[in-house]
Amino acid sequence: MKKMIKGALIASTCLMGAAQIAQAEDVEVLHWWTSGGEASALNVLKQDLEGQGIGWTDMPVAGGGGEQAMTVLRARVTAGNAPTAVQMLGFDILDWADQGALADLNATAAEQGWDDVVPDALKAFAKVDGKWVSAPVNVHSTNWVWANKSVLDANGIAVPETWDDFVAAVDTLSAAGITPIAHGGQAWQDATVFDAVVMSTGGPEFYKAAFVDLDPEALNSDTMVEAFNRMAFIRENVDDNFSGRDWNLATAMVMNGEAGFQMMGDWAKGEFLNAGKVPGEDFLCFRFPGTQDQVTFNADQFAMFDQGGEVSAEQSALASAILSPSFQVAFNKVKGSVPARTDVDGSDLDACGQQGMKDLAAAASSGNLFGSMAHGHAAPASVKNAVYDVVTAHFNGEYDAATAAEELATAVEIAQ
Ligand code: GAL
Repeated sequence: MKKMIKGALIASTCLMGAAQIAQAEDVEVLHWWTSGGEASALNVLKQDLEGQGIGWTDMPVAGGGGEQAMTVLRARVTAGNAPTAVQMLGFDILDWADQGALADLNATAAEQGWDDVVPDALKAFAKVDGKWVSAPVNVHSTNWVWANKSVLDANGIAVPETWDDFVAAVDTLSAAGITPIAHGGQAWQDATVFDAVVMSTGGPEFYKAAFVDLDPEALNSDTMVEAFNRMAFIRENVDDNFSGRDWNLATAMVMNGEAGFQMMGDWAKGEFLNAGKVPGEDFLCFRFPGTQDQVTFNADQFAMFDQGGEVSAEQSALASAILSPSFQVAFNKVKGSVPARTDVDGSDLDACGQQGMKDLAAAASSGNLFGSMAHGHAAPASVKNAVYDVVTAHFNGEYDAATAAEELATAVEIAQ
C-alpha cells in the first residue's frame, strides 16, 4: 500500500479501522483540514510525502478549530493507539509534551537548522526543555476581515478603518437588504471574532492583560463590557440561520455576494483561492478595524507521537518535508497562512499573503504579536474553553454585557 493515499476515515466511529489499515511504513495523520481550501493545502503535503515513497493514512476529524480532533486524539491515546502525527495548536502541544507523549525531533531539527529559521513565537510552542516536539507548518492570524468587493463597491463602502466606520458600513448593508456579517454560530467561531473585538476595543495591553495574564480586573472591566456590547452589535447583524453553520459556508456567503463581511482567520482565504477568486478583485482582506498594527496569531504544527523510543523514519521524513523551504511556500500559498520560517521568499504569495508576512514581521518587532485566545495560543485549553462558554452564551443572548464580563472573570479563575 506504499505510495497510496488511503481513503478518508471520518471521525471517531472509525478509530480502530484507521489503526488497522495503517502499515508500519505509513504515517497516519490526524487533522481537521476538511474544507475545500484546507483539503487542497493538505494535498500539497500528501503529495510531497508520496514523492518520497511514504504512504499516508488519513485520519480527518471535521470541525474547525480542532476541538473534535482533540477529543478523538484523547480517545486514541487512552486506547494505547496514538496516531503517528497530529495537527495541533499552541498550548495543546505543550500539554502533550508535558505528559511525555511526544517524540524528540532534535536530530531532524539539527539537520535542517530549525533553530535558526523558526521564530521565537513559534518555538515557544514547538520546543520544550530544549527538545523539538513538533514541526510548525504555518502562521495564521485571526484578526482579519474578508469582504466581497463588488458588494462594498455597489454600496459605496470603503474599507472600514475604525469600529465606527465598521458600524456605518454594516448599517449601510443592512439598509440595502444584504446580510452584513456572515458568521457561523459555533463556539470557536464566536471566540475567533471575540479575539479581534477585544484587541480593537481595548488595544494590545488590554488584550495581553485579559487573555495572556488572565488578570481578573481586565476580564471584568468596563472595557470588557464594551467588547461584549460590540459582540452584541455583531450578533444583531448576522442572518437568522447562523447557528451551527460551518465557517467555510459563511465564507461562501461572502464569496456569493449574500453577505458583506466575515471576520475569520486567514484560512478563509484558502476558500476564496480554492474557488478561483482573486484578492483585490473579487474579495478584500483587511485587518479588523482598530487592529491594523496588531497580529493575533496561531500556528498549525504536526506533533509526532512517541511510538516507543525512536523517531521513525516516516516521522522524520514528515517533519523534514514540513520545514523544507519549498514546501513552506507551496503549502502556505494554498492554505492562506504565511510560512513558519523567517528565511523564505514570500514574493510568490498573493497580495493578502504578502500583507500577512509584512504585518507579522512588523508586529513581532514592535511588540504587537500576541497568541490567539480562540486558537489555543494565549492560554491553556481549560481557560480557552471557559472563554468559549461565556462568549457563546453571551452571543446567544444568555447574558447581558455586564454579566458576561463578570462571568468571564469567574470562569477563567475557576479554569486555572
Ligand atoms: C484553525 C487552524 C487553521 C484552520 C482553522 C479552521 O484552528 O489553525 O489551520 O484549519 O482552524 O479549521
